[in-house]
Amino acid sequence: MVKSGEPSPLVAAQPEARTQKVILVGLMGAGKSCIGRRLASKLGLPFIDSDTEIEAAAGCSVPEYFEKHGEAAFRDGERAVLRRLLTEPRAVIVATGGGAFMNRKTRQVIRQNGVSVWLRADLDLLVRRTSRRDHRPLLKTGNPREILARLIDERYPVYAKADLVVDSVDGPPDITVTKVLTTLKNYGVEFERV
Ligand code: S3P
Repeated sequence: MVKSGEPSPLVAAQPEARTQKVILVGLMGAGKSCIGRRLASKLGLPFIDSDTEIEAAAGCSVPEYFEKHGEAAFRDGERAVLRRLLTEPRAVIVATGGGAFMNRKTRQVIRQNGVSVWLRADLDLLVRRTSRRDHRPLLKTGNPREILARLIDERYPVYAKADLVVDSVDGPPDITVTKVLTTLKNYGVEFERV
């Protein structure tokens, strides 16, 4: 129930869109979690970060998971978590880990259950943003700039299979959030107050 004085929740206009899911994909540092959280808050929808869900399910951090079980097991866990989240009948904004959309089966789960948005960013921006924290196992195996450059080559052709693409802006996050909202609207995903 909406309490008076609070903004009413926003839901998608079409009945089927009440369960509409927006899934953000893209490389580490593209801003998936930051933009996703703000987008969800603007729309009055729940926000879920798939890495956080994996950590809760596994009872350890993503780096610990990589160390204990390896990347292949992490990808299986990632797909299982996304399948669970994306088949729940509710509208939600989901930020995925950077490797999720690279996995063919995970991509299929995403494609079947929502609208995917690739948050695209250039190398300098990714290097700058990822250098602020030290929690990404893949960036610890060598020079982060070189690793990110290689991942751009490998992954951008696959991220391009997302339904929509939005360039992540190097500036206030709300600029990118507005771009995502406009892009979704132009694609036919409508959200309205009820
Ligand atoms: C990964 C990205 C990370 C996390 C894991 C693997 C990747 O998520 O899932 O470290 O393969 O790109 P973020 O993209 O949220 O940093």
